[in-house]
Amino acid sequence: MQRHLISAADLTRDDAILLLDTAEEMARVADRPIKKLPTLRGRTVVNLFFEDSTRTRISFEAAEKRLSADVINFSAKGSSVSKGESLKDTAQTLEAMGVDAVVIRHGASGAPYRLATSGWIDAAVINAGDGTHQHPTQALLDAFTMRRRLVGRDAGIGRDLAGRRVTIVGDVLHSRVARSNVDLLHTLGAEVTLVAPPTLLPVGVETWPCEIAYDLDGTLPKSDAVMMLRVQRERMNAAFFPTEREYSRRYGLDGERMARMPEHAVVMHPGPMVRGMEITAEVADSDRCTVVEQVANGVSMRMAVLYLLLGGNEPAVTHTRPPAAQQSAGERSAHTFDTAEEK
Ligand code: NCD
Repeated sequence: MQRHLISAADLTRDDAILLLDTAEEMARVADRPIKKLPTLRGRTVVNLFFEDSTRTRISFEAAEKRLSADVINFSAKGSSVSKGESLKDTAQTLEAMGVDAVVIRHGASGAPYRLATSGWIDAAVINAGDGTHQHPTQALLDAFTMRRRLVGRDAGIGRDLAGRRVTIVGDVLHSRVARSNVDLLHTLGAEVTLVAPPTLLPVGVETWPCEIAYDLDGTLPKSDAVMMLRVQRERMNAAFFPTEREYSRRYGLDGERMARMPEHAVVMHPGPMVRGMEITAEVADSDRCTVVEQVANGVSMRMAVLYLLLGGNEPAVTHTRPPAAQQSAGERSAHTFDTAEEK
């Protein structure tokens, strides 16, 4: 594992599987009455949010607290950033306070990379979404959700998503979620198809490791998971489609369309959903829609990311086995790090 998590494209297949397996271990903690581990006791994590966020921000905070880290929340609104302070000065302020990890969301693509490579700060940097570029923890939690649903919770341990067909629908142009998912799903062996109006596909998309289609109805029967994207109006400076009605008619998912999907197939959405636009309330509230599950899985996945990047100095999961179960370092695998001597 690298020291920072900037892009889903930086993860090898082994890294990704280690993260998925570790998240599965972390999910067991979420099932306990007391959802807390001592792993990051004494470590400080700052959540640096320059862009709006609900899910991602709360999810990181919950993950950090469940690992017993000291958490500092920073939002650009109401901070000296609104007085014109630069990223460099903000970073140096955090460095002076001795933070161990920075979770950053920024409107500018590349801001987390700059922070990680600038030398302004000596902390692990985790990208929580930068511009239209990357959102690696979202791709990881999505892959985790797909592996659980399509391979199985226990059966999935150690496995990838080879041969699973994932369709990503909507505003690919402005979506860091789509970019990150295409990268990670490709690494995990899944077959990805993007479905979008031509105006909402980025230049160069033909070089991405995926297929492109324009006919949603023809693609749905061949999908194991269908991920709907929000139309990101806040990033649009022109008209990309004639009307909302027209968009929904061609690229929205309603009950009738969902019925074309194979029975086992799931509907995913990173949130926030715009009901009535890319997804109808009927689909959003159906059993096949994993949106709430994705949020729960997000906490486990972010715990896994923080644990693996910060290499916690306490066991991730407290001792549950007799000493005989202790293994040598070489024998340990990702999902058996509940032995007391594990670092
Ligand atoms: C996404 C984001 O911010 O990139 N949401 C999220 O993190 N859950 C997608 C979006 O805003 O539509």
